[in-house]
Amino acid sequence: MGKVQTAGSVLDCYTQLCRSVRLQKKDLIFPIFVSEQRGGFSLSERNGIGMPSLAKIAPKDVIQHVQKIVDQGISSVIIFGIPNKRDVSASSALYSDGVVQNSTRKIKKEFEGLVNIITDVCICQYNLSGHCGLQTRSHKGTGRIIDNDSTLALLSKIATSYAESGADFVAPSSMMDGQVIQIRSALDSRGFKDTKIMAFSAKHASSLYSPFRMTAYTKHINNYYTIIDKSSYQVGYANPRQAIREIQADIQEGADMIVIKPSLAYLDMVSMIRDSIDFPLVVQNVSGEYAMIKAAARNGWIDEEEWKVNSIVAMKRAGAHGIISYFTMDIAKYLDD
Ligand code: PBG
Ligand code: ZN
Repeated sequence: MGKVQTAGSVLDCYTQLCRSVRLQKKDLIFPIFVSEQRGGFSLSERNGIGMPSLAKIAPKDVIQHVQKIVDQGISSVIIFGIPNKRDVSASSALYSDGVVQNSTRKIKKEFEGLVNIITDVCICQYNLSGHCGLQTRSHKGTGRIIDNDSTLALLSKIATSYAESGADFVAPSSMMDGQVIQIRSALDSRGFKDTKIMAFSAKHASSLYSPFRMTAYTKHINNYYTIIDKSSYQVGYANPRQAIREIQADIQEGADMIVIKPSLAYLDMVSMIRDSIDFPLVVQNVSGEYAMIKAAARNGWIDEEEWKVNSIVAMKRAGAHGIISYFTMDIAKYLDD
């Protein structure tokens, strides 16, 4: 295959005044992985996929890392923690000196007023199963099922602990029913009325989360990261009505922002929600979407710069107010404000 034709006008046009869709740095949220594990490099790099934005940051490097983000003019980060230790009950998610708690305190102290700190609230990086809920034996005795209600109490404690550490937003991503209302009331009763909730409301079950799992999960479950089936609690791609109900429920339960993920294949949902519900809406451009662009570009099949900008702007065009993307830093250099 010859050299890829660049649609040069896509980047040029973007800087022209004639555009009606205008992406700004404030729209972008950069994910950061902080890892207590030794080594500090990502599994995806080890496997030769080489995705720097998915690399793990050591706790001691957090400030330096966020400084680079702030220097680029980006004002929001979402923290994903990778703890040293996993157990059945995900207890390391609750440690007051846990990986997310420590990172949040450091960032807050150094960058107060400059960075919105969003913390992902889930247990799958902290437990042994890699599932987003606690498990219990099914009544039929045939295996294990996700125990929605016992998980809610744990998620509330984790969210409260993150709020205590200084998170501006907590972002429940486990898709347990009732997680928003439970977390809201836990936060309110502990005096964290100002801590906001960014709810991952319509998180579709997808193999596009694989690179994230390769990065965030330990060796322990790495062998079956690709086959872990979360479809009993994540939304199906052919069930838009359920996704809409999840979003409506989260808004009623007190969410301050809602998230739809993945992004590109769900822009019809974004547009529909934006038109029908006037509410702060975020999309997450997930790890597999990032990986596909990287892989195709590496093979010389597409122009990475052109398509990065084009696809992120499409999310804004569809109606997203905010965009969580591993491309945040790459895109920021094209934006003047
Ligand atoms: C887990 C979680 C996942 C992602 C964010 N939080 C993976 C999963 O549900 O298994 C995926 C993000 C990405 O792929 O970029 N709660
Ligand atoms: Zn999870």
